[in-house]
Amino acid sequence: MITVNENFLKLKASYLFSDIAKKVKEFQNNYPDRELIRLGIGDVTEPLPSACIEAFHKAVDEMSDTKTFHGYGPEQGYAFLREAVSENEYKQYGADISPDEIFISDGSKCDTGNFQELFSNDISIAIPDPVYPVYVDTNVMAGRTGLNNNGRYDNLIYLDSNEENGFVPEPPSTKADLIYLCFPNNPTGATATKEQLKRWVDYALENRSLILFDAAYVSFIRDSSLPKSIFEIEGAKKCAVEFRSFSKNAGFTGTRCAFTVVPKDVMVYDKESNAHSLHALWNRRHSTKFNGVSYPVQKAAEAVYSAKGKEEVKALTDYYLENAAIIREKMISLGYSCTGGDNSPYIWIKSDMGSWEFFDYLLQNTGVVCTPGAGFGQCGEGYIRISAFNSRDNVIKAMDKIASLK
Ligand code: MLT
Repeated sequence: MITVNENFLKLKASYLFSDIAKKVKEFQNNYPDRELIRLGIGDVTEPLPSACIEAFHKAVDEMSDTKTFHGYGPEQGYAFLREAVSENEYKQYGADISPDEIFISDGSKCDTGNFQELFSNDISIAIPDPVYPVYVDTNVMAGRTGLNNNGRYDNLIYLDSNEENGFVPEPPSTKADLIYLCFPNNPTGATATKEQLKRWVDYALENRSLILFDAAYVSFIRDSSLPKSIFEIEGAKKCAVEFRSFSKNAGFTGTRCAFTVVPKDVMVYDKESNAHSLHALWNRRHSTKFNGVSYPVQKAAEAVYSAKGKEEVKALTDYYLENAAIIREKMISLGYSCTGGDNSPYIWIKSDMGSWEFFDYLLQNTGVVCTPGAGFGQCGEGYIRISAFNSRDNVIKAMDKIASLK
């Protein structure tokens, strides 16, 4: 008899965005003529930068000739992309990350989900609430939690993110071995200062913990006082891993390319407290389970760092930030209190009804799809998240429709 991994039975029946997609589909079936405006899942709508498209085409042509054809590439990514990332994302900002500390992958969702495989099952884990559901669910699947009781899993240390702490939790008083942080934050759009991140790095160094830092939305930071990488913080190279993506800055959600930085100085320990290189372990895992991102996609990603690519990415992220400003201003003018939307594409809005209730209310009355805050955790109850990833026309139309409800 084939028996199931019972940890999977502890999960909610389906993934948050699948639940939402199902509700939206039902709405479409019931009202085929009603217009839908999707400001739910953070999926980009604007095309890839032309610099990326040109590099993509050129690389596809190379694949048609035996002299320039590429078969399996290095699992960790081609040197040209790892070098471009090291230079443009780190060295230029004073963070000394070398190309061989960068692992190219097909997405931050996979990397943030897979990384927990490297740790033993009895570690303590601190996870913010609200949070991107992948961090929690993948630890549930691995058996590191107990059952879900009233929306929270036993054995996790939840870090409440709320109005009182500006949606940036402080390190807990108890010891956590593994810590998930995401800034600019998904879902709240909150950002963390250097001082706030420094407290986390100090905590991790003191407790020999590891921080998994998801920086997928870093290209939306416009406030120059905010850190763009955890590696701008002294000591972080000994206690942090950083996840970055080409999805939200250059529109690669459908093209798939991301990278994870695992510094060589980070150590993990066995039961006898012997130190082991996290970099070597991730390299072992990555080269066993992954065969690299396709050559044309990596060439397209490299073009993000050309002069033209940089200009286009700036224009794309500015465009979504202008959408975010429109959403934020309109919702504030309608009397809602909002976080995010300034250095982030997400606006976190406090509602006067339950999260799913507000989601349904907006869907049924305006055709606007948002994301219910409760889907990101208990502290998200009473909030919704609106994403700025859509066309300007659709954003303006959505805001007019919401305003007309008042
Ligand atoms: C979101 O809407 O939270 C994101 O699109 C999720 C993701 O990037 O996987």
